[in-house]
Amino acid sequence: MESLSLLPSKIKSMKLKNRFIRSATFEGMADFEGRPTQKLKELYCNLADGGLGLIVTGLAHVDGYKNLPDIKGLPFPLAIDEDRFINDWGDLIEEVHIRGAKIAMQISHLGRQDIPHLREPVAPSAVQLENSGSVPRELTFNEINELIEKFAQSCRRVKEAGFDAVQLHGGHGYLISNFISPYFNIRNDEYGGNTENRARFIVKILEKARLLVGHEFPILIKMNFDDFIKGGLKKDEAIKIAKIIIEAGIDAIEVTGGTSSNNPLHESAKGITDEKDEAYFVSYAKALKNHVSIPVILVGGFRSLTVIDKLLTDGIVDFISMARPLICEPGLIKRWKDGNIKKAKCISCNKCKENISKQSLRCYIDEPLEQA
Ligand SMILES: Cc1cc2nc3c(=O)[nH]c(=O)nc-3n(C[C@H](O)[C@H](O)[C@H](O)COP(=O)(O)O)c2cc1C
Repeated sequence: MESLSLLPSKIKSMKLKNRFIRSATFEGMADFEGRPTQKLKELYCNLADGGLGLIVTGLAHVDGYKNLPDIKGLPFPLAIDEDRFINDWGDLIEEVHIRGAKIAMQISHLGRQDIPHLREPVAPSAVQLENSGSVPRELTFNEINELIEKFAQSCRRVKEAGFDAVQLHGGHGYLISNFISPYFNIRNDEYGGNTENRARFIVKILEKARLLVGHEFPILIKMNFDDFIKGGLKKDEAIKIAKIIIEAGIDAIEVTGGTSSNNPLHESAKGITDEKDEAYFVSYAKALKNHVSIPVILVGGFRSLTVIDKLLTDGIVDFISMARPLICEPGLIKRWKDGNIKKAKCISCNKCKENISKQSLRCYIDEPLEQA
């Protein structure tokens, strides 16, 4: 197959064999402490065999839950908040590398979307989202500085574990995206108010992280360019924030949008059946690309190679990121590479997402929940 998508490229020092990225996708395949399991290792090996250039893990907590009950089968999240987890990743990373792919870890704090019965939701401000959830507790100034340290130390652990890069989760209404959003962040100290102040949480994470990981280790961010909330973050301000954080040391930006707790359909839109519905955040990527020179990664609704090739050829994006199509077909890129360029099998039904709190990640097209 002749396609620009298959040409090698790089993000800072990280060389990738093609332009395809597996976007961070919560797998619920950690053990009860947040360690990777054999099942997770097999998933990443399948994705690497499937031809991806880069795999981004599902979100890993920088401040993990403690003492979760050890109930077999529950979809537990990854954690990277303690040094004892560093050595758990070597084998898995090696297996991915042997298969020719690179692997990054996504690090996150759920903030106001934390699970109330496990931990009190916290946020830059005690702002309730209209018709949605409880009011989170406002973080104190000291707590914010502690969280910055936790993010930075987690970047260090990701590097020490052997990952090729780290990605900050700055989207979907979780803690980092709450800081940059004018709706969720109404603080009046140095972490709130104007655009520079709202970007400061990320800037400080980068300053601290760079001291720990150096300047060569790639630090990526997946970031909201629209909260899709009245009074929330919008494109023009997101671009200003992007410029600030690039100056502070971000190496690539993955464009996303939406807030999981009230409008998950913006983040993972349903019913992508027509090419015209694909790449639904492309206008944001296009606008960003006009202002920055670091790689722009786009996620959201890619299903066909013609759409992908057009955006790469037109220079609108540098990398293509996908989540749901790869749950359905971990070998999708290899299939395309081998010449079967039929569009992805994924029908964007979102059952993978709707059932993620009940059981670990899988596709429901061929095996509906009732028969599982
Ligand atoms: C089951 C599931 C879990 C997800 N978990 C994460 C996650 O941990 N971190 C993240 O940034 N996005 C997460 N997402 C969002 C996807 O990475 C992606 O942004 C979104 O689904 C749109 O891309 P797609 O059309 O290729 O699925 C998840 C999506 C799904 C369906």
